[in-house]
Amino acid sequence: MSSSETSPASGAGAAGAAPAARISRRRFVKNSLAAGAVTAGVIGLGGRLLGADAGSAKPVAGSASKPAGSSAAAANAAALKNVAAAGHLPAWNATLAAKPLEKVRVGFIGVGGRGNGLLMNALVLPDVEIVAVCDLDLPRAKRCAAACKKRRPNAPVPAVYGGAGDAYKELIDREKPDAVVIATYWDSHAPIALYALERGAAPAVEVPIALTVAECWQLVETAERVGIPCMMLENWSFRRDNLAVLNMIRAGLFGEIVHSHCAHSHDCIDHWFFGRDGRDRWPAKYLINFNRDHYPTHSVGPVLSWLDINCGDVVTEIFSSATASKGINAYFARKFGAKHPGATRRYAQGDIVTSTLRTAGGKTFVINYDMQLPRPYSNRWLVQGTLGVYDEERGGIYLHGKTKGYHQWEKFSERENEHVHRWWREGGGGGHGGVDLIELREFFRAVKARAQTPIDVYDSVVMSAIVELSGQSIAANKPVAFPDFTKGRWKQRAPYFGV
Ligand SMILES: NC(=O)c1ccc[n+]([C@@H]2O[C@H](COP(=O)([O-])OP(=O)(O)OC[C@H]3O[C@@H](n4cnc5c(N)ncnc54)[C@H](O)[C@@H]3O)[C@@H](O)[C@H]2O)c1
Repeated sequence: MSSSETSPASGAGAAGAAPAARISRRRFVKNSLAAGAVTAGVIGLGGRLLGADAGSAKPVAGSASKPAGSSAAAANAAALKNVAAAGHLPAWNATLAAKPLEKVRVGFIGVGGRGNGLLMNALVLPDVEIVAVCDLDLPRAKRCAAACKKRRPNAPVPAVYGGAGDAYKELIDREKPDAVVIATYWDSHAPIALYALERGAAPAVEVPIALTVAECWQLVETAERVGIPCMMLENWSFRRDNLAVLNMIRAGLFGEIVHSHCAHSHDCIDHWFFGRDGRDRWPAKYLINFNRDHYPTHSVGPVLSWLDINCGDVVTEIFSSATASKGINAYFARKFGAKHPGATRRYAQGDIVTSTLRTAGGKTFVINYDMQLPRPYSNRWLVQGTLGVYDEERGGIYLHGKTKGYHQWEKFSERENEHVHRWWREGGGGGHGGVDLIELREFFRAVKARAQTPIDVYDSVVMSAIVELSGQSIAANKPVAFPDFTKGRWKQRAPYFGV
């Protein structure tokens, strides 16, 4: 890791500094309406989301039918040109970009709780063929393949790999999938994604995509060099409410955005970090050995696009602090008695981590990590601009000149219904209130059409770099410089997420 990544910020990106070649949001949105129409048509999955009964993944009708073919290829080339004109790197190398796919052949790596859920969602998508599944736990991979056969009796049974930590290599080398979905333990996300990229498969990777800044850079450099996009599966970016807020921001309803707040308040001590019997699960070691924001992506996902991060603005520094670690010991003492090893063991991880991030354009946003105290789930999203504020927890919005009543909240739900994002107009379904199917559908569409994935490699690594950088800032008790993974291109790049 270079010293510039770890040294405290020294006024870099002073508040108010205007990016030299910044593309105005209004101009971009206007220009991109035509481009968006082309892109939306091109990346249709080629049919309605029909038929399959995939457990929690309820099929939703309504997507436009567009067979792949020479007209689709021509339109795709136009869409890629638009992406390049908007300041993005072409996502795909020329050889692959010239060959949109009829079907996307996918391998699933890691089919535990999350991977299996994603797989059940993917089975609903008609243009997605599951060619293989892989898990450290070989019987689990076999059960998954059998479940695929049950749900898609006429499709070939996926090949099964597993039983070893590097069995994914055999899957990728032998099956040569177009894409892989990676839902393994955190420390294997980046290595598996890098292996896939080097061998021509587009990775869709569970959160976080990387654990270190060095891995983040490797992913950026590799995706750029091989010309294949790489997406982190941050599903909360696809929520109906968050996308409606994005539409409203892009329509100028909040004025100039200056601040946001977000949180991941989710008590995961009794079922995820540790088993219900109190035994360590694989993520427990992170609470024992590190003090940082382990899980920033669900909170920060929508905030990146609300604040135009990497496309008009860039994060320049992070300052994090942590409370004492009380919650885990208290949980074990309460549930298993004061003598249980979990009640006396020392955990490095503080209960609440608060990080403040600053941008070159003078914005700030605050993230709370909060996963080990008893409480109901909350993300506490808030975004504030020169014309108004949205407060998710309150279910409220205030828009100057539009909201009736002086300094009064109005209900967000009515505004939300007026600004439904096109992804939701097409329909949702599946896990987490519908977002899981939408994020997969849009990822596979992009791979099929050889278009940029809905979340690109730069946004994926910015969300993930917070893990290591928050730890560095807590340890040093001072702000830490945030790397610019776009290498200055944020000044020219226009918004792309959900455009
Ligand atoms: N986006 C979301 O809403 C969401 C929800 C839950 C979990 N997650 C993420 O999904 C990932 C998995 O979490 P989980 O709850 O499913 O954990 P899990 O323990 O239930 O599943 C992980 C699976 O990966 C397998 N695995 C580990 N290393 C492997 C390797 N090298 N090769 C093949 N298989 C391997 C394990 O055997 C296990 O079956 C984590 O990154 C987590 O952060 C995301």
